[in-house]
Amino acid sequence: MQRALELARQGVGLTAPNPHVGAVVLDKQGQLAGEGFHTYDGLKHAEILAMEQAGGRARGGTLYLNLEPCSHQGRTAPCADAVIKAGIATVVAAMRDPNPQVSGRGFDKLQGAGIDVVEAVLRSEARKLNDWFAKYIRTKTPFVTLKAGMTLDGKIAPPAQVSLGPTAMGAAAAGSGWITSEEARAHAQTLRHANDAIMVGVGTIVADDPLLTDRSGLSRRKPLLRVILDSQLRLPLTSRVVASAQNDVLVICSMAEERRRQELEARGVQVEQVTLAPISISAPRSKKVKQMPVRRRTGTGKPIVEESRTSGDGRPDLRQVMRRLGELEITSVLIEGGALVNWAALAADVVDKIFLYYAPKILAGSGSVPFAAGGGFHQLSEAAQVKDIALHRFGIDFAVEGYIHDPYEETNVHRAN
Ligand SMILES: NC(=O)c1ccc[n+]([C@@H]2O[C@H](COP(=O)([O-])OP(=O)(O)OC[C@H]3O[C@@H](n4cnc5c(N)ncnc54)[C@H](OP(=O)(O)O)[C@@H]3O)[C@@H](O)[C@H]2O)c1
Ligand SMILES: [Zn+2]
Repeated sequence: MQRALELARQGVGLTAPNPHVGAVVLDKQGQLAGEGFHTYDGLKHAEILAMEQAGGRARGGTLYLNLEPCSHQGRTAPCADAVIKAGIATVVAAMRDPNPQVSGRGFDKLQGAGIDVVEAVLRSEARKLNDWFAKYIRTKTPFVTLKAGMTLDGKIAPPAQVSLGPTAMGAAAAGSGWITSEEARAHAQTLRHANDAIMVGVGTIVADDPLLTDRSGLSRRKPLLRVILDSQLRLPLTSRVVASAQNDVLVICSMAEERRRQELEARGVQVEQVTLAPISISAPRSKKVKQMPVRRRTGTGKPIVEESRTSGDGRPDLRQVMRRLGELEITSVLIEGGALVNWAALAADVVDKIFLYYAPKILAGSGSVPFAAGGGFHQLSEAAQVKDIALHRFGIDFAVEGYIHDPYEETNVHRAN
């Protein structure tokens, strides 16, 4: 099963919107007979590739795979039928397919044909590998990871270099260097590789002028979609993102000035307009805003406010943004900040997972940029709760990975709808 998972991981960047699946066939004598992993363009599912390699040796053998074999007709015929036909005696699978079209039916089919089925071997590793698939297949909205690199005291950047003036795009990055180590930043590239899209606010573009590309060096089926939240299209035409756009930059605005839109589109940038966000839940009340009763819930299911308001700040609603990205078959999104976007994502409760890198540095001061700005949660009981924590070391840095929402939980399906 470890080998099956290792094979499945080779599909990262190559399988979405399909899951990462690896398969190993052992013959009757327990000798390796075949292996394979799925890629979207390769069409064939992992178990088919492994059984083809095994040929006649599959008969009476054991098939190991990290996901239940499919039972439905998709782009290919049901794998469960092929497993039966190949004469496999035992199927060892790490987890059920979260796809509601399968979800146990593959196992039922195998057992109905007299095949021994062993479930839940290395289940938690397998579930983690396809967490994004579980979210997307059940909600049609992307799995969202919030990533940031920060100091021990939670600062993502030193104070803005105001003396350089507003035209000094990228001055913040040029003036301050990197917070985290090379090892941590190299790992962050693998997160980009594993995601369909990356998202920042226009504030980050103006401050750092980042490229936002996948520089992991690993191959991917579709280019990483670079999504920029920019209400009024103030994205500088001279930014590196615009200069390098090849239909892989999507700017999400809430009010598009026609000429500005055309200027961006002429440079290969896509522009989409999305409806306005309700005000962040803990932001101070303003006289201008309209009251709208809405019940919102935290990840724990507790109501957090009794009413919500149209913000009047005119920014796109992140829940709408995620729905739209889902329609574009974006299965996973990596949010790489900016303090305002980080808060907006937490406030809108769209974050499924966090991956926070910490460098052993302390910036201090009220002028430096916090991980998440905005109103913040006002009660500890409202705070975003992170579960299933994993700690990682990258050189002198460390990272905390954890889930705000379990993509396999039933309630998560209702949350996104
Ligand atoms: N260390 C790290 O990991 C890291 C990563 C990224 C950035 N940073 C740092 O973060 C700083 C930039 O922070 P920032 O807060 O200015 O940048 P940001 O969060 O990337 O961008 C904020 C801007 O995005 C626009 N926006 C559009 N839709 C929004 C929405 N729904 N919610 C919130 N904002 C929305 C807003 O401008 P409009 O109102 O004009 O739309 C807003 O001012 C820089 O110093 C940068 O170096 C650090
Ligand atoms: Zn299949």
